[in-house]
Amino acid sequence: MVAEVINGKDLSMELKSEMKKEVHDLRNKNVVPHLTVVLVGNNPASESYVNGKKRASEEVGISSEIIKLEDTVTEKELLKVIDRLNRNDKVHGILVQLPLPNHIHVQHIIEFIDPKKDVDGFHPYNIGKMMTGQDTFLPCTPYGILTMLRSKNITIEGKHAVIIGRSNIVGKPVGQLLLNENATVTYCHSKTKNLKEITRLADILVVAVGKPNVIDKHYVKDGVIVIDVGINRLDDGSLTGDVDFDSCLEKASYITPVPRGVGPMTITMLLHNTIKAAKGMVQ
Ligand code: GUN
Repeated sequence: MVAEVINGKDLSMELKSEMKKEVHDLRNKNVVPHLTVVLVGNNPASESYVNGKKRASEEVGISSEIIKLEDTVTEKELLKVIDRLNRNDKVHGILVQLPLPNHIHVQHIIEFIDPKKDVDGFHPYNIGKMMTGQDTFLPCTPYGILTMLRSKNITIEGKHAVIIGRSNIVGKPVGQLLLNENATVTYCHSKTKNLKEITRLADILVVAVGKPNVIDKHYVKDGVIVIDVGINRLDDGSLTGDVDFDSCLEKASYITPVPRGVGPMTITMLLHNTIKAAKGMVQ
């Protein structure tokens, strides 16, 4: 079997052209969707992600701004910036780029963002809504993965989904979203024993480890659907995922590439959430 590649870049372009129309309609009603991104410090990867978010916003007509703060900013000062954004009616979405410097408590910051503007879907209130299957902002990478599966009409119900990784941003919520779709979900992580025995049982394998080529054809069964969340920069400057793409291609039924896979979908779902916020759909 040779897998069908799920191209996240192409799917993103399709979704963005629909969003462009939605934003146009909102602007005609004098609602200008606005996203504010807060970037603390000068981590080059974060800077590049944040610039990508701004560029994509502009593509669909969402107004956006980046607030850059020194990495010496105190937690109190950062909370003050968020307070101002929470109270500004023109700001529909607030995103504080992670990671933050160690002296700032990430959870204090996330919990201070107005849940109605939490377009990352990271606030515990929104996580609770997601867990109980209520409509809210879904975290962008997991939501992007779900959208990729749906775009190929892949049945999730009854499938065994194995997630490698248990971060709050990707691993945990993607498992929850697939559970909401009636998959049977297994979480694996750095302390998991016999990883290969478990991954070989997966109908859907989501790999969010952050290390290149940890999964190859020996870890998967025939017909598996492989979702590669990793974005690793190699010494030669090229990008690669967590999955050995060429090796798994011959066994999988579907596979996502890196680049042009999950990455573009993450940003696209952020735009989707910002439009949802501008419509006042999350209370
Ligand atoms: N850092 C890496 N991914 C993300 C994300 O999806 N949102 C935020 N806020 N920070 C991140």
